Amino acid sequence: MQRDGNQKELKLSGSDITKDRHNRVLKDKEEIVPSVEKEASSRKLKMETQNLNFYYGTAQALKNVNLPIRENHITALIGPSGCGKSTFIRTLNRMNDIIPGIRIEGKVLLDGIDIYREDIDLSALRRKVGMVFQKSNPFPKSIFENVAYGLRIGGVKNKNILEEVVEKALKDAALWEEVKDKLHTSSLDISGGQQQRVCIARALAIEPEVILMDEPASALDPISTGKIEELILDLKRDYTIVIVTHNMQQSARISDYTGFFLLGELVEFDQTSKIFTNPKDRRTEDYVTGRFG
Ligand SMILES: Nc1ncnc2c1ncn2[C@@H]1O[C@H](COP(=O)(O)OP(=O)(O)O)[C@@H](O)[C@H]1O
Ligand SMILES: [Mg+2]
Repeated sequence: MQRDGNQKELKLSGSDITKDRHNRVLKDKEEIVPSVEKEASSRKLKMETQNLNFYYGTAQALKNVNLPIRENHITALIGPSGCGKSTFIRTLNRMNDIIPGIRIEGKVLLDGIDIYREDIDLSALRRKVGMVFQKSNPFPKSIFENVAYGLRIGGVKNKNILEEVVEKALKDAALWEEVKDKLHTSSLDISGGQQQRVCIARALAIEPEVILMDEPASALDPISTGKIEELILDLKRDYTIVIVTHNMQQSARISDYTGFFLLGELVEFDQTSKIFTNPKDRRTEDYVTGRFG
């Protein structure tokens, strides 16, 4: 039922989607928790960047970015190609660190702690802040081994524990029913949409608190995209999610907050419904109404 709804939504125009999204946000508020409580929880910041500047050599890719990331919410980052979305999301678990010649200024806080402090344990950070990439990148191994990978490098050898965790992660990634009878098949022999869910399961298996997704559905067909979107909406109950998307309808459909980037600057950040129906900045309005980008 829900999937039918989703597919229908894929074909709606931007403003219909926004309206629908509005209704859903309102409904959420009525049904789940009293609005006071909802507002209190929505103020809890899981992560936050403060005056973040980022340079590749002398080229500045991020300019003084201040962006809050609220716990158990979906934050979407939108903007034209080359505006710094990937650079930004990679600063949130220090994935840029390996690039030679980079420089970073400002702070990135996780539960109030600056993850760029010298004494930060990078592997612990990446266990807390997991990442799913644009192009699904399963290893040339079985589905089981892909999902168990993080535990194995963490030294877990107990077969029962591995089986239990793999099953739970695949269930959470909405893939279990499709693959439970072929866990030892190569991950390269399943569909692109299934491969991307294997990668999501691999990220979930290490029980992160924040999941970063850089255009996770951009290489997928509309049906697989719908499944990934449904899954992301489900995941926010347990995780904090940051997603980069160049697809504005996708941002409107699934996110609670949206940040609009342009030339390395965070032009506007607000509740998604506001960004799409009543943006404050002219450049945001031009972008969301399709006048450029
Ligand atoms: N590894 C890199 N080395 C040098 N410049 C880079 C690198 N990655 C990205 N850039 C530059 O940084 C800017 C932002 O890129 P990116 O973060 O990939 O944008 P987006 O994800 O929004 O398309 C672009 O000008 C891009 O060319
Ligand atoms: Mg990118």
